[in-house]
Amino acid sequence: MLSFLHKKDNPSVDFSDLKADMHSHLIPGVDDGSPDLETSISLIKDLSEMGYKKLITTPHIMWDMYKNTPEIIRPRHEMLQNALRSNGIPVELEVAAEYLIDDHFEKSLESDDELLCFNGNLILVEFSFVQEPVELKSVLFKLQIKGLQPVIAHPERYLYFGANKQWYSEIKALGCLFQLNILSLSGFYGKAPVELAQYLIKQQYYNLIGTDLHNSRHIDLLRASSPYLPVIKKLIHSGSILNHQL
Ligand SMILES: [Fe+2]
Repeated sequence: MLSFLHKKDNPSVDFSDLKADMHSHLIPGVDDGSPDLETSISLIKDLSEMGYKKLITTPHIMWDMYKNTPEIIRPRHEMLQNALRSNGIPVELEVAAEYLIDDHFEKSLESDDELLCFNGNLILVEFSFVQEPVELKSVLFKLQIKGLQPVIAHPERYLYFGANKQWYSEIKALGCLFQLNILSLSGFYGKAPVELAQYLIKQQYYNLIGTDLHNSRHIDLLRASSPYLPVIKKLIHSGSILNHQL
């Protein structure tokens, strides 16, 4: 049914200029991403064929739904790395996490729990999609006190900030990095995120580009994203995108 989305019909999709992806849900069985090892291998093979050389995968840590910890995530990451090696899939797989800023996260910060970062001191964070987080700026400040640099996952998806775009400028001024979801450009999350993404691109606020890949549906949509490649290439050539340094 979705034959028009299949790879053979979309041979031009190529993300090799990005080199690395830094947002995905590929660790099997820990969140709403890949449910099992076989699916993880298949999704990673697909990403590798689209030109990615390195994947920093970021399982959800959100205490109401996914009580993940480094102790839960690391052995599964190692198991997946071994499976990639034995299947001859030429991609480097690292693991970090996507932290929801919730009460548990704030407690973890206070008790100095280990946090899963990438590229040294970058930490991927997300917030509620329905309401503006209370104390957000103070949490971001606490991360910075620890020497960490927050990366705001898909800022274009927090629609409540659409009416208060000043928020984006304030968060940028605090030193946070912004990460664009590729699929936000396609309208996959609705019309409003497309417009907010266009606004943030115009402001030159994005520093990282991620797939936020969860499943094979996302693979099909990425394969069909040729119309948005010029936007991505323009962003890369602007010099503000850090993926190739990861
Ligand atoms: Fe995500």
